[in-house]
Amino acid sequence: METNLLKGKNGIIFGALDESSIAWKIALACHRAGARFTLSNAPIALRMGGIQDLAKICETEVISADATSSSDLEDLAKRSVSFLGAKIDFVLHSIGMSPNVRKKKDYRTLNTDWYLKTLDISALSFYKIIQTLDRLDLLNEWASILGISYVAAQRTFPLYADMAEAKAVLESIARSYGYHLGKAKKIRVNTLSQSPTPTRAGTGIPGFQPLFEYTEKIAPLGNATAEECALYCVFLFSDMSRKVTMQNLYHDGGFSSTGLSLDVLDKS
Ligand SMILES: NC(=O)c1ccc[n+]([C@@H]2O[C@H](COP(=O)([O-])OP(=O)(O)OC[C@H]3O[C@@H](n4cnc5c(N)ncnc54)[C@H](O)[C@@H]3O)[C@@H](O)[C@H]2O)c1
Repeated sequence: METNLLKGKNGIIFGALDESSIAWKIALACHRAGARFTLSNAPIALRMGGIQDLAKICETEVISADATSSSDLEDLAKRSVSFLGAKIDFVLHSIGMSPNVRKKKDYRTLNTDWYLKTLDISALSFYKIIQTLDRLDLLNEWASILGISYVAAQRTFPLYADMAEAKAVLESIARSYGYHLGKAKKIRVNTLSQSPTPTRAGTGIPGFQPLFEYTEKIAPLGNATAEECALYCVFLFSDMSRKVTMQNLYHDGGFSSTGLSLDVLDKS
């Protein structure tokens, strides 16, 4: 469906782990739309996932970086620009991990050291990535920077644990950095709030399957898939969305604006 909307654009895509990853689908869509980019993930993820297969399809390189490490990010930023031969036009942050969710900790008994880790990996990394590219002056004017969020930033989902706060911070970073980079360099920063999606991180949330079925019934258009998310990202990275910045953009089939659906009522 994509045209050459991203022809001539160069980017960095974080977070493709395996074929189910949202970032994997976004990378494929960006490639089809004519973009060039590097792929990055944490060193441990490079050992487990099939990201090299994705790199082959997208004719690119994988550069390892722990997104919580400023020195890794500086190395990645410099190597990306050197590989691409150009400054960066778009960045995808599709990174999330909570040790508390992994250990299925109840919200009232969260391990607070792990809580800080959740915030560092899932939210502060967004700030560090943007800060690194900004400090090194490696972003082009009108670059588009995007993080993937979830509606638990606004509403409580009892089993989402400390990821809810991580998403609230992520969205706030987009607003704050969006202001500063908009003024300084005409660069936009947004978050996209995606439907529940069956990925490694998604299905790791306790109660994922019933939640997925519930939101499918609430959203008038049904849950948005990772492929559909990828198409929206192509638009957001393109020049078609130049004046969209500092926004949290729901991509959830209408879930976030629906109070009650007839499908759920019929069930009771
Ligand atoms: N799956 C869903 O239901 C859903 C819904 C809304 C938002 N999201 C968000 O989408 C994004 C992508 O998640 P996904 O669902 O595709 O799952 P995923 O497991 O495929 O992707 C998560 C990625 O984060 C990476 N990561 C973890 N720690 C890292 C670190 N220290 N440095 C660099 N990378 C690291 C993982 O290696 C992995 O590639 C996350 O921000 C997630 O919270 C997911």
